[in-house]
Amino acid sequence: MLKKVAILANGGDVSGFNAVIRGIVKTAEKNNIECYGIIDGYRGLLKNEYVELSSAENASGILHKGGSIIGSSLNANVFNYKVEENGKVEYKDLSDICIKNAKEAGFDCIFTLGGDSTQKSARDFFVRGLNVIGVPKTIDNDVACTDITFGYNTAVSVAMEAIDRLHSTAETHHRIMVLEVMGRYAGWIALESAIAGGADIALIPEIPYDIEGAANIIKERQAIGKNFSIVVVAEGAFPKGGSLTVKNTRDGGAGVINTQLGGVGDKVAKDLEELTGLTARNTTLGYMQRGGTPTAYDRVLSTKYGAKAMELALDGKFGVLTVIQNGKLGYVQLEDVVGNNKEIGAVSGNTEESNIRKVTMDHDLVKTAKNIGIYLGE
Ligand code: F6P
Repeated sequence: MLKKVAILANGGDVSGFNAVIRGIVKTAEKNNIECYGIIDGYRGLLKNEYVELSSAENASGILHKGGSIIGSSLNANVFNYKVEENGKVEYKDLSDICIKNAKEAGFDCIFTLGGDSTQKSARDFFVRGLNVIGVPKTIDNDVACTDITFGYNTAVSVAMEAIDRLHSTAETHHRIMVLEVMGRYAGWIALESAIAGGADIALIPEIPYDIEGAANIIKERQAIGKNFSIVVVAEGAFPKGGSLTVKNTRDGGAGVINTQLGGVGDKVAKDLEELTGLTARNTTLGYMQRGGTPTAYDRVLSTKYGAKAMELALDGKFGVLTVIQNGKLGYVQLEDVVGNNKEIGAVSGNTEESNIRKVTMDHDLVKTAKNIGIYLGE
């Protein structure tokens, strides 16, 4: 019998975290189940920090709020955790401490809200005996086995609004306006916002881009009297024969991604300026995509995911991830979500080895973009 459950939000924040939390808490309360929030994701599980959540108090009035009321941790791979002792850095598997904390607290299930790296750790915990249920989050929309993650729709809407605003200034000054959006290995945000905002070019990580091809499109537009162009670039896009533009490296530990991407928008703008003779400017949208109020779509999706996750817990279905497949709400095994990335702890996720969902060339969005003449850099 399920009595007590806990929620953990992990990884980069998105709009919709709180809506999922609310969905879980409300469904739990209807079934007389106590609900707790683990503070700052897996790090809170390690430090044994949690609070009780209730819709009468702290989990109320949060549907529309950005961020996460229980925080979220970045780069916290507790299976390969960076520990500094006497000036010496070591990587330790501290998952036993987390399991002990969860069992002592009496959590019958932990809901893990996060992207591929969060779900990889969730699966590893499940293998080691914790009851977990994952909920797929990330603005990048790249969690395997689901058509959509919560937070993505809001990010696309923010990017679309930015494109609308760039359009008028581009047109006024006859400029090329480049918008760099997030999307480390997957170009969903760039592709969908380019369609929504009416951009001329979208460069995504899945298609190494030909900058001369892009310049030619802009010149062709100029030849028919269109003196401005809009280019959307995913941060993970790179030129044919070239490499990713890395802004920084950090030391979050082993088994987590330690490169911070950024700068490809500036590079594309500079190259296009040289090749076309037109003025080009880059705008990097950055964390605007992750913050603030979720769209109606994300509020509903997050609520569906939260309520479904609690329903699965009541049915005793653990080690799974809530998903949307072909428009239908359901679940898959976490084992399928991690794919061949089976080794416990070694690679947490969000890396080249991760089993992530990339844009495929037969996807409707790619076909639509091509049909209406958006150049994808091929
Ligand atoms: O994973 C989501 C994401 O938005 C990526 O597109 C981006 O590379 C990353 O977060 C940046 O997040 P942070 O700087 O917080 O690590």
